[in-house]
Amino acid sequence: MRRGSIASLVGMGIIAGGVATAVALALPWLPKPAAKEADRIDVLFWFVIAICIVVFAIVIAVMAYSIIHFRAAPDDDSDGPPIHGHTNLEIIWTLIPTLLVTAIGIVSAIILGRNDAAGANFLRVNVTAQQFAWSFSYPDAKGLTSGVLRLPKGRSVVLTLHAKDVIHSFWVPEFSQKQDTVPGITTKLHITPNRLGTFPVICTELCGLGHAVMRTRAIVMTPAAFDKWLKSQSKAASSPATAVSGAAVFKSNQCGACHTLTAAGTSGTIGPDLDKLHQYARVAGRPLAAFVKQSIVDPNAYIEKGFPKSVMPGTFGKTLSTQQLDSLVQYLISSSKKG
Ligand code: CUA
Repeated sequence: MRRGSIASLVGMGIIAGGVATAVALALPWLPKPAAKEADRIDVLFWFVIAICIVVFAIVIAVMAYSIIHFRAAPDDDSDGPPIHGHTNLEIIWTLIPTLLVTAIGIVSAIILGRNDAAGANFLRVNVTAQQFAWSFSYPDAKGLTSGVLRLPKGRSVVLTLHAKDVIHSFWVPEFSQKQDTVPGITTKLHITPNRLGTFPVICTELCGLGHAVMRTRAIVMTPAAFDKWLKSQSKAASSPATAVSGAAVFKSNQCGACHTLTAAGTSGTIGPDLDKLHQYARVAGRPLAAFVKQSIVDPNAYIEKGFPKSVMPGTFGKTLSTQQLDSLVQYLISSSKKG
């Protein structure tokens, strides 16, 4: 090979590699990580991208060089010279990809292993997914339940995930990892948040009509602020005055994810507007309390005009106690607007 050819090959490789590097660096492909695990996944991501850029540059350089220098004349219809077998070349193009893929495999295994280790003194959080809402409970704080995932910065967290109805998938882009929630199976996810902030919690498994709105927030707080929140919440939960309030039942079952109820400050539009219960009952020609109760335990018995069938889970009759159900009905009736 002539020296000029090598120089032009190298030149083309540098240009192709430079363009690919600029595209990789200039565009925000991944969100800024907010967890230790996400940092490690970021390292793996850039390790693989670097290998890809080098391979891309070599392929583009050889291809561009061949197109330019070995171009056949327009009237040349003859076959190219017959070439068969080049043992050294074949060894090289088998060995290099083998080494690269093995290296990616080893680095991935190390990072997966580290991300799966929860560390000492981890915080336990139970995650419940249902159509179409998330709820989070803290078993170390007397089962305190929240519709927003609050986490302390710098401490390992083990999420134990359950699904009440169909498959959902838990995803916080800034934490990098995704985990399916499957009915009948318990899944786990380890997170060590290392950046304060509010991040979206998104369901990434098509789970029904309200899939797109099955979102909430993950708030990473300072450990002091987190402890303070935990204390204030568990005190409220254990005080007898709020033992079974309809408002709490409404909140903890995430009814507001699908329903509008001004009194609860919710604005869901998947299911009927609960501000209009009086009106709905009148149209249905049913006594209000019986109508509301039936609509909760047997949602398909009467479908409000303009809303699809079989969207509301039919499980509340089983999961709510009689007392909870009654207070929820009373709460809805008293909160709903008359007229
Ligand atoms: Cu739950 Cu999509």
